[in-house]
Amino acid sequence: MQILQGKKILLGISGGIAAYKTPELVRRLKEKGADVRVVMTEGAKAFITPLTLQAVSANAVSDSLLDTQAELAMGHIELAKWADFILIAPATADIIAKIAAGMANDLLTTLCLATAAPIAIAPAMNQQMWHSQATQKNINTLTAWQYTLFGPGAGEQACGDVGLGRMLDVPELVDLTCQAIAAGNNNTSVEQKPLTGQKWVITAGPTREAIDPVRYISNHSSGKMGFAIAAAAQELGAEVTIISGPVNLTTPLNCKKIAVNSAIEMHQQALTYAPTSDVFVACAAVADYRIDNIANEKIKKSQDTMQLNLIKNPDIVADVAALENKPFTVGFAAETQDVKHYAQDKLARKNLDMIAANNVATVGQGFNSDNNALTVFTPNNEKELSLMNKSELAKQLVQYIHQTLLGSQ
Ligand code: PMT
Repeated sequence: MQILQGKKILLGISGGIAAYKTPELVRRLKEKGADVRVVMTEGAKAFITPLTLQAVSANAVSDSLLDTQAELAMGHIELAKWADFILIAPATADIIAKIAAGMANDLLTTLCLATAAPIAIAPAMNQQMWHSQATQKNINTLTAWQYTLFGPGAGEQACGDVGLGRMLDVPELVDLTCQAIAAGNNNTSVEQKPLTGQKWVITAGPTREAIDPVRYISNHSSGKMGFAIAAAAQELGAEVTIISGPVNLTTPLNCKKIAVNSAIEMHQQALTYAPTSDVFVACAAVADYRIDNIANEKIKKSQDTMQLNLIKNPDIVADVAALENKPFTVGFAAETQDVKHYAQDKLARKNLDMIAANNVATVGQGFNSDNNALTVFTPNNEKELSLMNKSELAKQLVQYIHQTLLGSQ
């Protein structure tokens, strides 16, 4: 079954340049099985036509509160009741301010007041506008009202500025919508969220060790395993920070991501966040060595052979485990042989509370695969988590960490 099968999604479009992405967004949501209806503000129609959105959604587009014909077809209250989920993308500073002020002077703002459905907003605006006190106050108001924030992302903006404020890309918006709807379906109560009040820090993905301005040494980690652990811990109520090397993944819903490149950067961020965390999971594939002297200019091709001088990187998980007030510290061991022996050696040598070992020589698991299998060691126990998709595996690992932590207190 498609993940959004039978879900009724109301897409609210306000007047920002990112509105040009919305026909693609509608198509991708429909591909996943959703029935999509579009509501546009007056401003949105300056960027994209209702006809286009009608064609891709296969539904009439609503754009006016005071349209007698539209009210005959599906009035604003019916529309508000029809939706299982409302996504406002792009959400301009103006529409965010109106909603936060409780206004109802057009169809979209009225729907926000009239609906019982969960609402997500995907902000899109200039970085200065995003950082302004007014917008931040409005965002805080909306999140306190249980609105979900999708983004914004960082990068180059249509106005030429660089910074936070870009609307997330369509695949990320679709992923987050699926996650938000799945989380709503689970309707997990506070009692079912045993990690509420806990802070988890998770390292994920590869590190990149620069050779010169254009080259680096890295590995095949995709970040999937670490991001799945983050999503699983967050679903159970934890406040999650992911410290991630360069990956091509959507940050799981309601998790904070700190993006880093090198092992040195990951080490610095880990030692900033770990001291105040309850659980630290080191899933990142950190480069053991970095280049001694990174060249300032691109190295020119000359001799037939060349040598790179490497120096040891700090051991992030060992340094976290050495903290005076250390969190419950879980390492990973990526091995190609003698898995148990090497994993138990790392568990003891790095002073870890737990280590999850995976055989990365086995085809169909480990690096950059959707599936994995783990043997989890504590100083006294050994537990097998058999081959399954990383999302399910992460849930089982998070449960096991939680039970072990409870047992150790
Ligand atoms: O990202 P995916 O494509 O989903 O793949 C998942 C994975 C295979 C990367 C993951 O399951 C995994 O095994 N991660 C650990 C990879 C690794 O670097 O293992 P290691 O045995 O070399 O390191 C042992 C532990 O020390 C790890 O917890 C590692 O994060 C940590 N470490 C290593 C070196 C270093 N300088 N600092 C560290 O913290």
